[in-house]
Amino acid sequence: MFAKFPMMNVFPQKPFARIAGLGSYLPEKVVTNHDLEASLETTDEWIVSHTGIHQRHVVVEGQNCADLGVMASKRALEDAGISADELCMVICATCTADYENFPTTACLIQGAIGAVNAGAVNLNAACTGFPYALAFARSYCACHGAPVLVVAAEVFSRLLDWHDRSTCILFGDGAGATVLVPSEEPGLVDEVLGADGTEGNALIRLCGTSFPVDGAQGVPFLQMNGKAIFPFAVRTMEDVIYKLLERNNFKLSDIQHIIPHQANRRIIEAVARHMGVPVARFFLNIAQVANTSSASVPIALDDLYRAGSIQSGDRILTIGFGAGLTFGGNLLVWNK
Ligand code: ACO
Repeated sequence: MFAKFPMMNVFPQKPFARIAGLGSYLPEKVVTNHDLEASLETTDEWIVSHTGIHQRHVVVEGQNCADLGVMASKRALEDAGISADELCMVICATCTADYENFPTTACLIQGAIGAVNAGAVNLNAACTGFPYALAFARSYCACHGAPVLVVAAEVFSRLLDWHDRSTCILFGDGAGATVLVPSEEPGLVDEVLGADGTEGNALIRLCGTSFPVDGAQGVPFLQMNGKAIFPFAVRTMEDVIYKLLERNNFKLSDIQHIIPHQANRRIIEAVARHMGVPVARFFLNIAQVANTSSASVPIALDDLYRAGSIQSGDRILTIGFGAGLTFGGNLLVWNK
């Protein structure tokens, strides 16, 4: 009966998956807080003190979500020493896809990098997209015994009302990618994924099949209730960290790196305060990149990796939260 599924790794010799390559890409154009002072009633001081953000990268006309994803994916493949035709799946985490419905950004990336033997699918868990995608990818990679590309790419700059100072200051564009390969030892160890769909209105974009398509509507901006998201983020990030530790019999001191979703420095400070640890326990690059949604965790992971800060055997927690509302995290052991 399994003959129909020749790629299926029915009795896997390598029953686990590990990260073999990382890459990220930020568009060249930078918008600083001082740039925003020129068009908004805001100040660099307010933005830095309320968010920790100093600048964000944004796409230019003609540069789209898939373009960022392709750049990050090529870098991750090169880092892994794997060619695109070895991939069996491309999973693209995004909530700012090139096209609202289809073709998917995953297909655009699959085509552009030449992953001719891979399936391709978008995964939308908003800013928690990377922890979700990594979770599904680890199973798929181990089951099928072949490399999987997980790429998270976002262009929030195109969903923002640049006259709304409460939202437009927060976000940036970018992409991060990882290549997973089958492994004899677990590299991706565990994940916790969750959601609270009753709080969906806290971050919403009013378009889709709930709305009539009459060709006359403008393109709606995202709407956010930042005050509702803040406590949800603090609570769920801490919960996910402790769940992952408890389930795997680790203490916080066994973890070398915690990589949180970079939405607001004050959220991370609140988590750290509540956990009774210094904020320095959390890796932060929000000052330079702002909130790149699902791409924020893989961009941060790549920054840490490229800085030479990750050693073999290091244990890493990646933690996210986002629209939906969703939350989640992964436990990794670095054996690249
Ligand atoms: N510059 C100057 N003043 C501002 C700005 C700005 N950019 N934005 C808001 N203000 C003003 C407000 O108008 C308000 O003025 P008022 O008191 O006269 O009414 C005052 O500053 C305080 O506003 P608050 O909304 O109370 O500011 P707060 O301290 O809550 O910070 C923020 C707002 C940064 C949005 C915060 O609530 C937050 O970060 N929440 C979480 C948001 C988040 O994480 N979103 C993304 C999650 S999901 C995802 O990643 C896609």
